[in-house]
Amino acid sequence: MATHDNQHREHPSTYFVQDRSNQEELARLQILGQMFTTGMGGVLSEQPDPTIFRRVLDVGCLTGEWLIQTAKTYPGISLLVGVDISNKMVKYAQAQAEAQQISDRVQFVQMDPLRMLEFPHNYFDLVNQRFAVSYLRAWDWPKLLSEFQRVTRRGGVIRLTETNFMVETTSPALTRLHQILLQALYRAGNHFTPDGDGVISQLARLLHQHGAQNVQTHTRTLQFRSGTIEGQHFYEEKKLFFRTILPFLRKWTRVPDDYEMIRQQMVVEMQQPDFWATWNLLTAWGTKSIRDSSQTPVCD
Ligand SMILES: C[S@@+](CC[C@H](N)C(=O)[O-])C[C@H]1O[C@@H](n2cnc3c(N)ncnc32)[C@H](O)[C@@H]1O
Repeated sequence: MATHDNQHREHPSTYFVQDRSNQEELARLQILGQMFTTGMGGVLSEQPDPTIFRRVLDVGCLTGEWLIQTAKTYPGISLLVGVDISNKMVKYAQAQAEAQQISDRVQFVQMDPLRMLEFPHNYFDLVNQRFAVSYLRAWDWPKLLSEFQRVTRRGGVIRLTETNFMVETTSPALTRLHQILLQALYRAGNHFTPDGDGVISQLARLLHQHGAQNVQTHTRTLQFRSGTIEGQHFYEEKKLFFRTILPFLRKWTRVPDDYEMIRQQMVVEMQQPDFWATWNLLTAWGTKSIRDSSQTPVCD
C-alpha cells in the first residue's frame, strides 16, 4: 500500500469547497459528520451483521469521523483505512486516531480515488462512501465503482450514502438557497438531474450496473427543530455552509445580487421558535458476486 505523507501540497480537486484548512470549514465538517452519523442511527445501522467485517475502507474520509466511530463501535474490525485527496484532512484524521489510541487498527492515507485505489484486488470486506456528491461528477461514478468492485472481496459489501440536498422547511430563505445550490450542482455535473433527488435516485441503479448483487436501499429523514441540539447543529452548519459554498455557486450559476441578504434572512428564520426542517439521506448497498469471473488474484 503506497503512502504519500511526504507530500505537503494540497492537490487541486473538484471538491466544492477549495479551502479546507480554514477553521470555519473544519468546524462545519465536524458538525456535519456527527449530525449525519447520529441521524443515521449509527455508523452501520442498516447492516444486518456488521461484526462480519474485518477490513473496512472509507473513501473520501474527510475528518475520519465515520471511520473512527466505526472502529470504536466494532472492535472486531482489524483494519480500517480511510482515504482522502486532501493531505490536511488525512493528517487531521490520523491525529484524531492517535489521540483516541486506535491508530494500531485505523490508518489514513492520502489518495485520489478517481485515479485509482492503491490496494490489492479482493482486499476489503466493506467499502464505504458517504457524500461524494460534493466532488464526484455524474461521469466519474463508473470508474470509481469499478475500483470499488475490484478492491472488495467476493461476497463483500459496497455501501453508498448520499443526501438529496433539498430540505423541507418553514424557512423560505433556506429553501431559496437550496434551490440555487441545486442549480449549481446540476450545472457542475455533480447531479444527474436538476431536481433534489439528483444523486440519491441513481445509487441503486449505479450499483446494479457495476455488478453489485442484492442491492438494497434505506432512506432516513432527519428532523431538525428549534430548541433541540440537532436543530442547533443544523443551524450552525447551514450558516457556515452558505458562506463557504459561495465561490462554487458563483462559478456554476447566477447568484442573486441580494444573496447575502437572503442568507441573513435564513439565519433569522432558522432562529424562530417554530422553525423546523427535514432532510433525506439514502443508503444503498450491494454485495460483490461470489462468482467473480474476472482473472484477478484473490488476496485472503
Ligand atoms: C463531503 S466530504 C466526505 C464526507 C465524509 N465521507 C463523511 O461521511 O462525513 C468529500 C470528501 O471527498 C474528498 N475527496 C476524495 N477524493 C476526491 C477527489 N478526487 N476530488 C475531490 N475531493 C475528493 C474530499 O477531500 C472530501 O474530504
